[in-house]
Amino acid sequence: MGRASSLIPFFFFLHVAASGVLGDSPYRFFTWNITYGDIWPMGVKQQGILINGRFPGPQIEAVTNDNVIVNVFNSLPEPFLISWNGIQQRRSSWQDGVDGTNCPIPPGRNFTYVMQFKDQIGSYFYFPSLAFHKAAGGFGGIRVLSRPLIPVPFPPPAGDFTLLIGDWFKANHSALKYVLDSGRDLPFPDGVLINGGGRNGNTFTVEQGSTYRFRMSNVGLTASLNIRIQGHAMKLVEVEGSHTLQNTYSSLDLHLGQSCSVLVTADQPAMDYYVVVSTRFTSKVLSTTAILRYSNSGGRTAGPPPGGPTIQIDWSLNQARSIRWNLTASGPRPNPQGSYHYGLVNTTRTIRLANSAPFIDGKQRYAVNSVSFVPGDTPLKVADFYKIPGVFSLGSIPDNPTFGGGGYLQTSVMAANFRDYVEIVFENYESTVQSWHIDGYSFWIVGMDGGQWSAASRKSYNLRDAVARCTVQVYPKSWSAIYMPLDNVGMWNVRSENWARRYLGQQFYLRVYSPANSWRDENPIPRNALLCGRASGRRTRPL
Ligand SMILES: *[C@@H]1O[C@H](CO)[C@@H](O)[C@H](O)[C@H]1NC(C)=O
Ligand SMILES: *[C@@H]1O[C@H](CO)[C@@H](O)[C@H](O)[C@H]1NC(C)=O
Ligand SMILES: *[C@@H]1O[C@H](CO)[C@@H](O)[C@H](O)[C@H]1NC(C)=O
Ligand SMILES: *[C@@H]1O[C@H](CO)[C@@H](O)[C@H](O)[C@H]1NC(C)=O
Ligand SMILES: *[C@@H]1O[C@H](CO)[C@@H](O)[C@H](O)[C@H]1NC(C)=O
Repeated sequence: MGRASSLIPFFFFLHVAASGVLGDSPYRFFTWNITYGDIWPMGVKQQGILINGRFPGPQIEAVTNDNVIVNVFNSLPEPFLISWNGIQQRRSSWQDGVDGTNCPIPPGRNFTYVMQFKDQIGSYFYFPSLAFHKAAGGFGGIRVLSRPLIPVPFPPPAGDFTLLIGDWFKANHSALKYVLDSGRDLPFPDGVLINGGGRNGNTFTVEQGSTYRFRMSNVGLTASLNIRIQGHAMKLVEVEGSHTLQNTYSSLDLHLGQSCSVLVTADQPAMDYYVVVSTRFTSKVLSTTAILRYSNSGGRTAGPPPGGPTIQIDWSLNQARSIRWNLTASGPRPNPQGSYHYGLVNTTRTIRLANSAPFIDGKQRYAVNSVSFVPGDTPLKVADFYKIPGVFSLGSIPDNPTFGGGGYLQTSVMAANFRDYVEIVFENYESTVQSWHIDGYSFWIVGMDGGQWSAASRKSYNLRDAVARCTVQVYPKSWSAIYMPLDNVGMWNVRSENWARRYLGQQFYLRVYSPANSWRDENPIPRNALLCGRASGRRTRPL
């Protein structure tokens, strides 16, 4: 976390540079074949994106610092990329798998992601990042376990379940993409899925008296969700790699792109119970259920699935504020999380980002600080590396909102300096909940409130035990503020996790730059990097 990279001895980097391997941590190899196949998540046949024949895709299990090598064979008739939500890709935005960092894997070709899960623990997910592929599946869970000798602030659970939850459309991803391309907004989703299954499509079997970990990620496209388990309390222990104060909740909100872990003890009479997921802040509430089954179950518990909050915003805001860092618990390293005093470091720059929904040339677009992102003809990271002019320009998105001017299209890249310590304020003047994610980073959520942010809002910041994560919600007509040390050089996607908004331009790239131009700060271009656009035919580096 934080400045951790500067604590690593320099000889480590020399070793990396000289040998070309990623330290002495274990390697985990995966070979994935991406295909189209039929899926029936809501009872009607749909075209899904399968990984090795599966929807959702296989889970990645790893331990802090493991080298994770994923060779992806694209058997779709179109370009494809996978990105890794929450995996920080230290010094290596080359592996991030978004269209600003990587050339797409052409049909019939493969690309091997060579990643190290450096200094990370926690629950994350991967997803297909191009076109509107995410609406067809192709996502899966990632869990990064602590190294054996590092204390975890709860006893080992009897089992560890992954719940990928998300809203779902019966229309296929091409049809949804067509709607967006023609300048219209998506329709309301048709349902909610748990692990690719509809109503009671999943059963989680538990032993009475035991405690289980449930890792949950909102992999959906447009809706915040609430999750609850009939008759059972959920003890929150982790969000996106941070160990939290272990508060118990009867239901939890999970916004787009967010992940967390709860512990659930099977301490009720031996029956079947509902796990319920429903949409939040929507006028019509969609919900679905799974089953929590005691192994000695005497049958279905009486009563309907428990209801949850629907449009209440204050309830959600208060819950968000109750999620705090456990300062004495260890994170990925043996030292306590609280030994990094994020609130005592002076920020060196303030960036204010306002979302908006302008019409541009008669089409619905989404923007941040009035700029609606359009991709360059060459991935920005690749163009930057080969110094290809005219793909993007630095400073093509302002540091502050511009009001009243509508919006414009731009391949927007914000320049930033390695080792700056930035305050970013997400300002939401719209009446819908937003969710923002920053690749390559984890940041502290120091404040969140209704109304307009001003310098005086800083007085309310939590500078002591705010939680560090990589995705933050912004409530309607509200703001959320984060502190983020720019300790990871690269080209990083800053995006709305609402997939229609991101697709229609609510994203940009943050180019964190070190003038040292050293392998200590950033890994060299991978030898297997695919080259495309105006970089076609260039060479990566000699073997
Ligand atoms: C991927 O799966 C398809 C369909 O089963 C098969 O035809 C193809 O050979 C597979 N490719 C690889 C690289 O395994
Ligand atoms: C494609 O897969 C082969 C192994 O089957 C591997 O040697 C090669 O490096 C891969 N290509 C890329 C670009 O990663
Ligand atoms: C996707 O949906 C469109 C519109 O309903 C339909 O025309 C098309 O055949 C579908 N594609 C597939 C592969 O199912
Ligand atoms: C914080 O973590 C410690 C382990 O270091 C644990 O003993 C304690 O119960 C946790 N506190 C809370 C409030 O969750
Ligand atoms: C932060 O800034 C204040 C006033 O500008 C200064 O007094 C303080 O020493 C600075 N703290 C650090 C850690 O640099």
